[in-house]
Amino acid sequence: MKVHVFDTKEKLYDEVSNYYIERLNKNPNLNLGLATGTTPIPLYDRLIEAYKKGLVSFKGVKAFNLDEYLGLEKNHHQSYYYFMRNQLFNHIDINQNNCFIPSGDNPDHETAKKEYQELLKQNQVDIQLLGIGSNGHIGFNEPNTPFDTKTHVVKLDEKTRIDNSRLFNSLDEVPTHAITMGISEIMNAKEIIVIATGSNKKDAVYEMIKGNISENVPASVLQRHPNVTVYIDKDAASRL
Ligand code: F6R
Repeated sequence: MKVHVFDTKEKLYDEVSNYYIERLNKNPNLNLGLATGTTPIPLYDRLIEAYKKGLVSFKGVKAFNLDEYLGLEKNHHQSYYYFMRNQLFNHIDINQNNCFIPSGDNPDHETAKKEYQELLKQNQVDIQLLGIGSNGHIGFNEPNTPFDTKTHVVKLDEKTRIDNSRLFNSLDEVPTHAITMGISEIMNAKEIIVIATGSNKKDAVYEMIKGNISENVPASVLQRHPNVTVYIDKDAASRL
């Protein structure tokens, strides 16, 4: 695991976005594993800006998102389908038919799971972007998820629902379940980039990097991956 600590978020996001631009210019047909949440937004902003300046193109990219809430319509303002279009896809030249997100509005969860598992089997992710939950989750793989899981339906941790309630009108509105890429599928990516900022992530970051590898802390499994780079600000790094 390579760990880069930055004084400021600006420097952190500049570095990560430059890395993506460099990689995309070398290989315009990358399969990108993407994340939602607050963490990736400054990265997506920089990628949009670079696209507008003609510094990068996403025409050949396929995008595979980590997860989606169950039971929200695609056009709900907090669905990850809506988030990705709003924060990135609608502002770049990616082919929207090549943007994949687990289906959270299909009432047939079994089919939704199988379809995403099959898609990931056919398409190995080149660079998987991850944020980390304050409880150590990756994707929506909550603590005690077995490491060998593939795409599955999860009951969200109360901590996750409370963390994410900041984006809804009330805690009651936060879905109780989600569909997420499994840990074994995340680990199948050729390369993984983790971003974490802020002191509320410091314990999860510590456990991910220095803790025992344990299903208690899903992110600790990343210690077993041969190509992980962690980008953190000094607040998230404060326990290291
Ligand atoms: C998002 C995801 C989650 C988030 C994590 C951190 O697709 O899978 O694991 O990365 O919950 O969320 P933020 O960035 O909002 O702190």
